[in-house]
Amino acid sequence: MGEKMIGERMLEALNKQINEELYSSYLYLSMSAWFESIGLKGFANWMNIQAKEEIDHAMKFYDYIISRGGKVHLSEIKEPPHEWQSPLHAFEETLKHEQHITKCINDLVEIAEEEKDRATFNLLQWFIDEQIEEEANDEEIINKLRMIGESGNGIFMLDRELATRVYTPLKEEK
Ligand code: FEO
Repeated sequence: MGEKMIGERMLEALNKQINEELYSSYLYLSMSAWFESIGLKGFANWMNIQAKEEIDHAMKFYDYIISRGGKVHLSEIKEPPHEWQSPLHAFEETLKHEQHITKCINDLVEIAEEEKDRATFNLLQWFIDEQIEEEANDEEIINKLRMIGESGNGIFMLDRELATRVYTPLKEEK
């Protein structure tokens, strides 16, 4: 016998997380558009790839719900902000958002434990690791932006660095 059908409470929480991940994508795509509007194409590239990764996260939950015989329920995605005060401000908001997502994942882990849902608990381990990586990436860029301060040359160099980020679909990851 395989894993039993997913419980109602767990299912509702996972569907809510699909919305959180899609909002994350929307937020980073909005940041990408803002970076484009101020001529920072490397920053825009980084955020554009982040937006794609968030869709992958949403789809990981989506595929998982279906694999457990559950029903995916998509809900309204709220409007993201459209402007930030500076690149540093945008990345500070990114880190803040990821800390919120980490809390969401931890809450899901708690529900999985309470519901004794081992399959969901296992799925969430991947997201725990991913959140550590995402927060660390954001912190690294924030540190660089703080060191750079107002230096136009520093921003230009970082923009060139962030332009090198490439998108890797989830299934190709090890
Ligand atoms: Fe889906 Fe940025 O965590």
